[in-house]
Amino acid sequence: MKFGHFDDQHREYVITNPKTPWPWINYLGNEDFFSLISNTAGGYTFYKDAKFRRLTRYRYNNVPMDSGGKYFYIKDENTVWSPGWKPCKTELDSYECRHGMNYTSIKGEKNGVTATALYFVPLKTWAEVQKLSLTNNSKEVKKLKIFSFVEWCLWNAAADMENFQRNFSTGEVEIEDSVIYHKTEYKERRDHFAYYSVNVPVQGFDTDRESFFGLYNGFDEPQVVAEGKSRNTEAHGWSPIASHYLEVELQPGESKDFVFVLGYVENKEEEKWESKNIINKTKAKETIAKFNTVAKVDAALAELREYWDNLLSVYTIDSGDDKLDRMVNIWNQYQCMITFCFSRSASYFESGIGRGMGFRDSNQDLIGFVHQIPERARERIIDIASTQFQDGGCYHQYQPLTKKGNNDIGGGFNDDPMWLILGTISYIKETGDFGILTEMVPFDNDMSVARTLFEHLTVSFDHVVNNLGPHGLPLIGRADWNDCLNLNCFSNDPNESFQTTENKTEGTKAESLMIAGLFVIYGRDYVTLCTKLGLTEEAVRAQSHIDAMMDAVKKHGWDGEWFIRAYDYYGNKIGSNENEEGKIFIESNGWCTMAGIGKEEGLCEKALEAVKERLDCEHGIVLNNPAFTKYYIEYGEISSYPAGYKENAGIFCHNNPWIMIGETVVGNGNRAWEYYRKICPSYLEDISELHKTEPYVYAQMISGKDAFKPGEAKNSWLTGTASWNFYAITQFILGIQPDYDGLLVDPCIPNDWKGFKVSRKFRGAEYHIEIQNPNGVSKGVKEIIVDGKSQASNLIPLFEDGEDHEVKVIMG
Ligand code: BGC
Repeated sequence: MKFGHFDDQHREYVITNPKTPWPWINYLGNEDFFSLISNTAGGYTFYKDAKFRRLTRYRYNNVPMDSGGKYFYIKDENTVWSPGWKPCKTELDSYECRHGMNYTSIKGEKNGVTATALYFVPLKTWAEVQKLSLTNNSKEVKKLKIFSFVEWCLWNAAADMENFQRNFSTGEVEIEDSVIYHKTEYKERRDHFAYYSVNVPVQGFDTDRESFFGLYNGFDEPQVVAEGKSRNTEAHGWSPIASHYLEVELQPGESKDFVFVLGYVENKEEEKWESKNIINKTKAKETIAKFNTVAKVDAALAELREYWDNLLSVYTIDSGDDKLDRMVNIWNQYQCMITFCFSRSASYFESGIGRGMGFRDSNQDLIGFVHQIPERARERIIDIASTQFQDGGCYHQYQPLTKKGNNDIGGGFNDDPMWLILGTISYIKETGDFGILTEMVPFDNDMSVARTLFEHLTVSFDHVVNNLGPHGLPLIGRADWNDCLNLNCFSNDPNESFQTTENKTEGTKAESLMIAGLFVIYGRDYVTLCTKLGLTEEAVRAQSHIDAMMDAVKKHGWDGEWFIRAYDYYGNKIGSNENEEGKIFIESNGWCTMAGIGKEEGLCEKALEAVKERLDCEHGIVLNNPAFTKYYIEYGEISSYPAGYKENAGIFCHNNPWIMIGETVVGNGNRAWEYYRKICPSYLEDISELHKTEPYVYAQMISGKDAFKPGEAKNSWLTGTASWNFYAITQFILGIQPDYDGLLVDPCIPNDWKGFKVSRKFRGAEYHIEIQNPNGVSKGVKEIIVDGKSQASNLIPLFEDGEDHEVKVIMG
């Protein structure tokens, strides 16, 4: 069942039934100021950091779901309704929500009135702009009463939910003209306040929540709205809100627009006050003035659209399959940009108070957006590397506001360092900017011990070399990519965190085959980099460690039909036929086949066969199998999940691309494509009632074959799934890879594909690549013709001339 449709021309998903199986959301803002908005106008706003600068309140896991947001109540005679259906839930005559690139427009129609609420954050602006357009389609004059609504959060989103003995006494507001200012804690240590304005004189306002709703009413029936008149309340403590009241008369056929601005201001200490206890509103007024007419708002939206036109013009495909094209050209790239902005902090599954920026997550996200915003990727790499320790280990997470490592989690996740090599080489291959390697980058944010970024890569590489276990394989530490495989945790106490508890570390033998594969792949990249920089000795040294690792994998990591996953604390195998449960895992088989370890001996093909046979199912490839059915203290959190969910045999969409890429290494384009399609959201639109999450973005997890209800997705939006799938489809299946000296073309596609076209902007030139597959092969390039000239290699050279170049690729 579908709840809407794609509108590719406008780059929108159009939801036509508000009762989606889960709130289907969008993100506004792409630099400092952000909002989450659902298809029924639920959601919240923050400045930079969803924990420390939460502007509006949101209640996760509430009943009913997704209560609270940016609401407009329309009172037309005795009918009260909202354009987004919620919160009133008055049945609408028509409803349509359009989620586009960083904007959302929600249109409702009731009793001859159409109301469209457009929400977006203009570029370089610390505010969300809302344009409410009302049209009278009826034959009578309409006298409407409009009430806007937002609920202020008391800044620290965690404290906001806990410290009520204080919170209920701190709230403060100011009201001036049509602007409501939220200034809680401004008179002490805060240098910031928020505001909500409308561009016309108001007939009233409210800022006290209890007065607006009545103590026993919900969002669906505010008392003030029912009474049809606001009370002009000023909040003192309790829970401040902001609501404007407008009386609007519309002649038949007439339309009127109103612009609301929800913004944030920071003032210098000496500029905080206008007079005693009256805040300095200069900056707020400047922003409000920038958007006080419809023409200005429309111009700002046009600018935002143009910004996205540019971002999405770097890589475009024309394959003839609209489901594929819309993912590659629009939604997958959009999701990658969203993970760039939010990492794993704020979604409808991530509460914005828990996780900051992950070291491994942020490096992996980079491969999905580096082609769009290379300068910001550069800054991101330096920020991430600055949270590394001198021995190559890293803080697992850092906070976006401070950019400092998060002490609550610390380090010890032994895959983390190698991801920095992936992030850095992806950036250099895209831009050719080797200069980044000589940037001085601190360790643990301490500039006095700064070293070049290149030296950070060296210590990353050596962190693996210096932490090998008894089989010469990498020690896993607290966990590798799989945060839930906690081999030193040994926890019997439900109050302990699986991630940070290490009850047994002395003498551990726990080793990871996933890190082994990771090391071989990015180790090779490190070697290439050394060679390019003329560091021959270092290249030879590094290569010898890689060779040793490959030998160790073949000797101690091969189980006969697939690669084992790990050795546990005691040195027993995990992910082996010897085990009763969890006999085979996806991660090690993905990484070792991507690395091509034992390819000549046929190990890769065998391992991929085993994955197909034992892990693949209707909805995708599960993480491990058979699922764990009891708690294994020596494995940790992975065995805490019910069978088929999350890391315990769920379809963890992040790692499915590792198998897709593995399949391209052995040339099996049919399988790579089959796996791609299975988890790709646009192909799942028709089963939305089962899949539940948005059909335009990837979810982290789909419940697997062992689950109570297979096929149900969770944790949409903020997941490494976005970047890995983009990477797999664009660079390995479609096969256009940025490289140091040009674009490498090496597609691996289903053999019945006749061909496809890709346009790629790369290092100052635009390549129009047409791939033809006359002989029905999956892999192999027979001929490449660049600007009419045939060339021997499949590396399309750099032109850097600002021109367009025609490239014809004949597979065979
Ligand atoms: C985390 C990743 C981790 C993955 C698998 C995600 O929720 O953000 O860092 O690799 O789970 O455990």
